Amino acid sequence: MSKAVSRRTFARIAGAAAIGVSATSVASARPSAREAEQAAQAGAPGRGFPAGFLWGTATASYQVEGAVSADGRGPSIWDTFSHTPGKVAHDATGDEADDHYHRYKEDVQLMKALGVKVYRFSIAWPRVFPQGSGQPNPKGLDFYNALVDELLANGIQPFATLYHWDLPQALQDRVGGWESRETAEAFANYAGYVAGRLTDRVKHIFTINEFGAFVELGYNNGVHAPGLRLAPGRFNQTRHHAVLGHGLAVQAIRAAAKPGTRVGLAENMTICAPIIETPEHIEAARRATREVNAQYMTVIQEGRYTDAYLARAGADAPKFTPADLKAISSPLDFVGINIYTPLYVRADASPLGFAVVPHPKSFPHMISPWLFVGPEALYWGPRHLADIWKVKDIYITENGCSSSDVPAADGRVYDTDRIMYLRNYLTQLQRATAEGVPVRGYFLWSLMDNFEWADGYTNRFGLHYVDYATQKRTPKLSASYYHEVIAKNAVL
Ligand code: FCB
Repeated sequence: MSKAVSRRTFARIAGAAAIGVSATSVASARPSAREAEQAAQAGAPGRGFPAGFLWGTATASYQVEGAVSADGRGPSIWDTFSHTPGKVAHDATGDEADDHYHRYKEDVQLMKALGVKVYRFSIAWPRVFPQGSGQPNPKGLDFYNALVDELLANGIQPFATLYHWDLPQALQDRVGGWESRETAEAFANYAGYVAGRLTDRVKHIFTINEFGAFVELGYNNGVHAPGLRLAPGRFNQTRHHAVLGHGLAVQAIRAAAKPGTRVGLAENMTICAPIIETPEHIEAARRATREVNAQYMTVIQEGRYTDAYLARAGADAPKFTPADLKAISSPLDFVGINIYTPLYVRADASPLGFAVVPHPKSFPHMISPWLFVGPEALYWGPRHLADIWKVKDIYITENGCSSSDVPAADGRVYDTDRIMYLRNYLTQLQRATAEGVPVRGYFLWSLMDNFEWADGYTNRFGLHYVDYATQKRTPKLSASYYHEVIAKNAVL
């Protein structure tokens, strides 16, 4: 009813404007205080999300769990990398991280207090297969079984990611990690094993998190584990093995999972936003999206590498078979995209039809220098998926930002910049859902501050401040903001 009130009120104002009635007479059309209150409770007019929209938070195993040698876990490439001096800021490691392995019950209560409906976590492959393949560790899934039960008991749906970068070190040592096709096959085997044991309760599975980060940063410029800088041919082959691993895992999950299990991925597709929203620049942004994501999202959606990608790679192009492409493009039930910042593009007369518009030095960013503030990424990302590849179920599997987050004298963290970031980004996501773009849910990165890869603990992305000396979690102001967004199912 309150929605009808606000729509009617809006119609009167709009109608008045059309026939030139003055602002004073329009004022009499304002809703009463009670109507305004009702409208606010249902979400501000025009700013609501579809009923049943799934609000959540996200984390990843190595970033939060700690307990790196508990219960038979084998080492991962991130243990090795972070223990190599000079690789991570202040030589920090994930040895303890948020000690989530032991504090997960407390952390589920943090989620419950926020009001989230869904939680995205990742499973550490080396807990389940300490050697990457071969004998599973009998205790490897105990923690995740307990976590899943705890989530469900608190009314939160678990969404599990199978690979969020903690590759078993044994696979890196034995076959060169993702450089080898054997890792893709071992990943599928692990995926099937987990699916067979968790999908009685976990109904949504993501295969791999962010090819665009772990392959590029780990095997090309070496700033992430395993810290390699491969020559172009071997690097392109590594990219191919990563998407192949995803495709083989989709097949293995389907073969092993309980009926009703839904499978997708969580990719940080490069979001090409038209610098000006005119038809020619929008068309350029579409072309750019297919091309700059050719090695990951495009081949997954289309089952072929674009001609331009193969031509650019030349003799360094990946070697593949038609069967590989078929596996890579195995049909998905949903697509997840992690969105932080856009790439601005414009129409251009070049053969590709687009050009990238660089950021000037003054372009605003959050405390991570790469995190440029471009809220419209949260509109164009899902819209491109729906327009270009007709994706019918989309999740925003990560979005959030790093802030300086210094506790004030009263112990609270007033992260007004994070609230600014979220409000602006969510406004653009709401724009997408209001236009019918099929976004089903949103996972805010992150539930709490954690090990931010090569940045160690220097950059904080959490809704909860973590004092790493005591492991005390304190909700930041942004946690209150997100709580209200969830309660109203609207941008506030
Ligand atoms: C993404 C990663 C996630 C986190 C955020 C800030 O690229 O998937 O683990 O580090 O960035």
